[in-house]
Amino acid sequence: MVIIKDICKSFNGKRVLNSINLDFRDGEILTIVGKSGVGKSVLLKLVVGLIDSDSGSINVDNILLDKNTVYDIRKKIGFVFQSSALVESLPVEENIGLALRYIYNLDDDTIKRKVIEAIRMVKLDEKVASMYPSNLSGGMLKRAAIARAIILRPKYIFYDEPTTGLDPIVARAIEDLILTLNNKLNTTSIIVTHDINSAVGISDRIAMLSKGEITFSGMVDDFNKTENQYVKEFKDAYFLKQEK
Ligand SMILES: Nc1ncnc2c1ncn2[C@@H]1O[C@H](COP(=O)(O)OP(=O)(O)O)[C@@H](O)[C@H]1O
Ligand SMILES: [Mg+2]
Repeated sequence: MVIIKDICKSFNGKRVLNSINLDFRDGEILTIVGKSGVGKSVLLKLVVGLIDSDSGSINVDNILLDKNTVYDIRKKIGFVFQSSALVESLPVEENIGLALRYIYNLDDDTIKRKVIEAIRMVKLDEKVASMYPSNLSGGMLKRAAIARAIILRPKYIFYDEPTTGLDPIVARAIEDLILTLNNKLNTTSIIVTHDINSAVGISDRIAMLSKGEITFSGMVDDFNKTENQYVKEFKDAYFLKQEK
């Protein structure tokens, strides 16, 4: 379980996160929704120690995040970046196996076996292994990025806007994959997105981030029914945009 307690973060004197309290519960799919620029990506990066908080604490499985524990904590978390963040000069199989080669120094055969296993798990064709990122579609890139995130069998997987920029059919397929992986690998999946539909479709629980605070959190049913003003405004803005 991840316990985020009273986390504050400012950039250049501007408060982005103002005393965030939120738990990530074992086994769940939690989606954090909120408008662009509200601090969703910053929140995920804080938990893996890519950004330091100004105050507050983060505990991951009873380990307090600090500069001594950050690498142990990172091993528990697979991160799928919004940009997919593959190295363009390396074929897909090298990208997926990067951590196995450079952090764990595994031998070539073991790496190959684990990479192929990951490629199958994300339902990519094995032919993709030797291809370069620039020759992949958006959906394939996302699958490759997910394969890289799961290669160490992390307990947690963080997905930053996993469906943003994908066409609706591909987006639904990626959501199905997230759901399948969460069940198969027994992971806890945290998704941040500004896309309500994707949030409601596969999540157990939804938290809403607005004005630097968690302004709502509850099960999907509660999210659908709530009279919470922030959630209502967010839904109205979202569906208005969809109609245009
Ligand atoms: N490394 C950084 N340096 C300065 N400002 C940042 C940095 N990262 C994020 N921000 C600012 O923090 C705010 C929240 O960003 P972000 O978490 O990326 O929003 P989103 O909810 O769209 O993911 C934005 O105003 C952004 O400009
Ligand atoms: Mg973001």
